[in-house]
Amino acid sequence: MGRVKIAPSMLAADFANLERDIKLVNNSDADWFHIDVMDGVFVPNISFGMPVLKSMAKYTQKPLDVHLMIVDPDRYIQTFADLGADILTVHAEACTHLHRTVQTIKAAGMKAGVALNPHTSISVLEDIITEIDLVCIMSVNPGFGGQKFIENTYEKVRRLRALSTANKATIHIEIDGGVTSVNAAELVQAGADVLVAGSFVFSSENPTVTIQDLHRLANA
Ligand code: DX5
Ligand code: ZN
Repeated sequence: MGRVKIAPSMLAADFANLERDIKLVNNSDADWFHIDVMDGVFVPNISFGMPVLKSMAKYTQKPLDVHLMIVDPDRYIQTFADLGADILTVHAEACTHLHRTVQTIKAAGMKAGVALNPHTSISVLEDIITEIDLVCIMSVNPGFGGQKFIENTYEKVRRLRALSTANKATIHIEIDGGVTSVNAAELVQAGADVLVAGSFVFSSENPTVTIQDLHRLANA
């Protein structure tokens, strides 16, 4: 496994100062931008959509890791490819034909991610694990930043890493929700290699240093 990646979630950025916060991430040692798109249907909240992402992409200088928390994401796969998404993650719970959705994402030139809500078993990925590039394990119920980390995540990540190894798959395992300096190292030990962090980064006194700290803990 290579160096663990840190992906600040722009949901926790200051939306009135997005350019400033994007540049902060550009100049930090963060690896990816994590972009949370919510539709108010799949999750009980609305974040931002394509016009905002289009403006953001003018400034971002690192890969865009786009996390769609929307129903029927197939409708927008090409749109997100055109906007510059590098990784497009859909929720297994939102896709009736997940295999087809994954193929469509890859055909559009992006890496394909699948997110699982806390209650969703990793077993839904058993027959598709070699087809996907990233699994996003939700360690909170999606919809809001700043929620409490669900402890069962460690065990779920261990089982997912074992499933991946058993199938000779090469997935990234990303953790999303409630990631802090308290759980970063243990998540990596369990098998995670991408940590998303929103409020822990942007509510801190010095987000640049916080990103550095997370990297240090994750790669120790
Ligand atoms: C939650 C989003 C997360 C969120 C994480 O629905 O998918 O990416 O921004 O925020 P924190 O790190 O504050 O839990
Ligand atoms: Zn997210």
